[in-house]
Amino acid sequence: MSRYIYMDNAATTSVKEEVLKEMLPYFSEKYGNPSSVYSLASTSKVAVEKAREQVANAIGADKKEIYFTAGGSESDNWAIKGCAYFNRKKGNHIITTKIEHHAVLHTCEYLEKQGFEITYLNVDKDGIVDLDELKSSIKDETILISIMFANNEIGTIQPIKEVGKIAKERGILFHTDAVQAIGNIKIDVNELNIDMLSMSAHKFHGPKGIGALYIRQGVRIDSLIAGGGQEKGKRAGTENVPGIVGMGKAIELAYENLEEHNEKLVKMRDSLIEKIENNIDHVRLNGHRTQRLPGNVNFSFEFIEGESLLLSLDMVGIAGSSGSACTSGALDPSHVLMAIGLSHEIAHGSLRLSLGEFNSEDEIDYVVENLKVIVDRLRKMSPLYDRVKGEN
Ligand SMILES: Cc1ncc(COP(=O)(O)O)c(C=O)c1O
Repeated sequence: MSRYIYMDNAATTSVKEEVLKEMLPYFSEKYGNPSSVYSLASTSKVAVEKAREQVANAIGADKKEIYFTAGGSESDNWAIKGCAYFNRKKGNHIITTKIEHHAVLHTCEYLEKQGFEITYLNVDKDGIVDLDELKSSIKDETILISIMFANNEIGTIQPIKEVGKIAKERGILFHTDAVQAIGNIKIDVNELNIDMLSMSAHKFHGPKGIGALYIRQGVRIDSLIAGGGQEKGKRAGTENVPGIVGMGKAIELAYENLEEHNEKLVKMRDSLIEKIENNIDHVRLNGHRTQRLPGNVNFSFEFIEGESLLLSLDMVGIAGSSGSACTSGALDPSHVLMAIGLSHEIAHGSLRLSLGEFNSEDEIDYVVENLKVIVDRLRKMSPLYDRVKGEN
């Protein structure tokens, strides 16, 4: 294989060299436990607090409002279950959407078994929630609205500012899963009226297994992990110091050159979309054409199995995804593609290519050339495609 093109940045990203460099001493010479009292320990404590500030600065929060977790899934679980348990006496109704990541959906399904009532909002054909449906779903018992910032499969960005406004007016807490948005979109939690926000470092060139939950000062939720008094007694467990240091550095770097980074990504994204549409027939772009993550491209190819497409792409050195990484391998079509109204057959032929800052324009050409050849070859094996061609 002559080259390897990684276009699965929504699944995970590589740790940047500068990030790794900052992390390394905290595995070896600076190994102190931040909770201890001697100077080796305070070196770790200082590093954790610096990272907390870096994360807070990136979203316009105060460092007291940032709690480190083991990643996006934990942050989602904590925000939703923590809010549900704390407010149980006040109400039992939660509003979310049909296209959330499973970290949110499965948490809500679990809460349903505990007696909570969940409303799963519909989305339109581009994957955008209906704000009128949101408003009319609110009841006296509603304690939380949890709507993702941007979708991991189709990249659609939600009208978060409007959702925040509705939640604030009605005095309901608003959580957003911003795992795909952080590092790609400028976010100010105050401007957007966000009460809780989930993030995960491995999506923006930080390490895996570290994330954070922003909890607005004054918002009270139950703890999920009991034990020591770390994270102000709200999330027990000895801190993952190297991970936290890496997350701090990675988020700082991501927001340092955001505009330049986004300009490049949007250009590549739109060029990839245009070239696929111009070179391959019977394709459908999934997600909103412009209101989407700067690096997200998601197409359905009719008469094709997404898994075969992925394997063929892998053989020519291209890494993509046929849904979200967590669901590929499962036979059920993606719940996100179902929610935007795709049929099972078309949903099965979907491919997500997610670009990152290490991709280049010449890679786009290589991908389109190979995609065209592979799609042609796979369609030749499809009796259905033969029939459609015969009819045209
Ligand atoms: C939107 C979204 N939420 C949550 C997660 C889970 O994050 P983590 O892998 O850090 O647990 C992901 C990961 O793919 C995601 O895309």
